[in-house]
Amino acid sequence: MRIAWITDPHLNHVSPDRWDQWCDRIASMQPDALLITGDISEGDDVELQLRRTAERFAVPLYFVLGNHDFYQSSIAQTRQNVIAASRDHNALNYLTDRGPVALADGVYLVGEDGWGDATVGNYDESFIRLNDFKLIDDFREISDDRWKAKLQQLGADSAARLQVKLNAVPRNATQILVATHVPPFRESCWYEGKTTDDHWAPFFVCGEVGRTLMEFCQRRVDCQTTVICGHTHHDGIATLRENLIVHTGSAVYGAPDVEAVIEVTANELHIAGHRR
Ligand SMILES: [Fe+2]
Ligand SMILES: [Fe+2]
Repeated sequence: MRIAWITDPHLNHVSPDRWDQWCDRIASMQPDALLITGDISEGDDVELQLRRTAERFAVPLYFVLGNHDFYQSSIAQTRQNVIAASRDHNALNYLTDRGPVALADGVYLVGEDGWGDATVGNYDESFIRLNDFKLIDDFREISDDRWKAKLQQLGADSAARLQVKLNAVPRNATQILVATHVPPFRESCWYEGKTTDDHWAPFFVCGEVGRTLMEFCQRRVDCQTTVICGHTHHDGIATLRENLIVHTGSAVYGAPDVEAVIEVTANELHIAGHRR
């Protein structure tokens, strides 16, 4: 099985010609499935972009949502729209809303949106405040002194759902592919070849998801966990443990691409052609 991994396509920034070129490039790789790790578009058209991408390819489209996917809307409303679209479109699979997917014997896929959850780095002294606070209703509607707690709650919610999914992976699993938007560790959060500093880390790392993954991998040493994510738009590979590797993908606004092809066979998973 060949999975085309795409991250941060930001399709609302993409011209019709560029969209066609992107689809041709995906098609040339002859994937059996597409997997998008968030920032697909924005809240007012993410559902449309998912539908038209699914309709262009006669293969399953697995995805999680990124922070931009909630812009101009609320988190709950966007998720509800996307869950409804996934129910009436067979090819669409919102991983945040479902349990493990068997890709091959012993190989399972799970996914969770994740959020920069203000648990890594120094939120209180950071000079960074993302557009999320202005463009997502959940932040717009509360005062700025409650933003940090909201970020932490979103990270904790993602981690709790991920925990349930990881525990639901059958015992015969030897490989787990975890798709998420936000890098779960500071070591996997790249910017121009360097990992993030204390100013950016609160927004660019989902620490709670990282802790859940680390705890799982310490317990399940028989199982190899490969995490794929995006969000920082800069790529890198981080080995956290022998059985826990994180691939972070790159992106350029207006020029969507395919980050890598993931090849899956019984008890094997290989990410071909990832840049580093
Ligand atoms: Fe992005
Ligand atoms: Fe993002």
